[in-house]
Amino acid sequence: MGQRAKRKLRLISSVLAVLVFLSGCGQDFHKEGEQDDVISKDDSLTVVGVSQIGSESVWRTANTASIQNTFSKENGYFLIFDNARQKQENQIKALRSFISQQVDYIVFSPIVEDGWDTVLQEAKDAGIPVILMDRKVKVKDESLYTAWVGSDFAEEGQNAGRWLAGHLKEEGRAGEEINIVVLQGTNGSTSVIGRTEGFDSVAAQHDNWNILEQADADFTTAKGREEMKKMLHKYEDIDVVVSQNDDMTFGALEAIGEAGQSTGTDGGIILISFDATKSALEKVEQGIINVDIECNPEQGAYIEEVIRVLESGGQAEKEYFVSERVFTKKNVASVIGDRSY
Ligand code: AHR
Repeated sequence: MGQRAKRKLRLISSVLAVLVFLSGCGQDFHKEGEQDDVISKDDSLTVVGVSQIGSESVWRTANTASIQNTFSKENGYFLIFDNARQKQENQIKALRSFISQQVDYIVFSPIVEDGWDTVLQEAKDAGIPVILMDRKVKVKDESLYTAWVGSDFAEEGQNAGRWLAGHLKEEGRAGEEINIVVLQGTNGSTSVIGRTEGFDSVAAQHDNWNILEQADADFTTAKGREEMKKMLHKYEDIDVVVSQNDDMTFGALEAIGEAGQSTGTDGGIILISFDATKSALEKVEQGIINVDIECNPEQGAYIEEVIRVLESGGQAEKEYFVSERVFTKKNVASVIGDRSY
């Protein structure tokens, strides 16, 4: 019996053992529609355990859909999917469960960068390649993961800054004092670190740009609204809102409307958003959001490519960047129709 077949047999018995254990503990270990397949699964399938952060944003839901569409049975995969509901401890539990099930590959999107050394060492010791999706980890030993697939977040932040500099110039405001507030996503996450560093590096070249505050709004609409409301009370004159995802932008728009102010191309507060989901792009088209910096959630095919390279005995690159664009009223119309998320 080959290595892979033995591994699959071990997998089935250990999955059953884990399921019995979890039902005994009454632990809510959430898998999306996969458990019924465990016993009847085909041994030729490649087993991929995926730990997703949660469902905090429209972007995240699209990212999950990309994974689920790619790692389907029709494509030759058996997917074990876990939603960590925004908790690092749940992600660590999921990773340990994947290790004990002896999956062929672990794919995961780390909620924050710190705190992964121990569990990744366990995966390495078990001989399971780990592919990071979307966000990165800060580990002492880079060999604890095989590859990372995601966005150039620093470039996204720089694109936001460069667009603002160009826009202020076009409007004849390049020399004006410009007051900026920032709604940040999850503290300690790669996307926040990169976007903040990227935008700040452009802001540092403009003495007249004053970043009044960078508030933590956790990538959610509810927190975006709450933090924007506080900042509108605190600061009389806000020229620019940089919102690090579309969900927070929608919350900010509610708060700005409630305060009797407007945003966008009609001379209101300049609104810069990230992600470029369909509903936000519609607001770009309507002139309510000035610019949306795309963050591409469709990462499943890129990850599958890494797995193909590894399956054929090749060496994967350490980093794979997904392609991304910047959308304003001028170029948004051509993409809205095709946007699926
Ligand atoms: O890490 C990518 C970010 O995480 C997206 O911008 C955000 O919407 C998501 O939740």
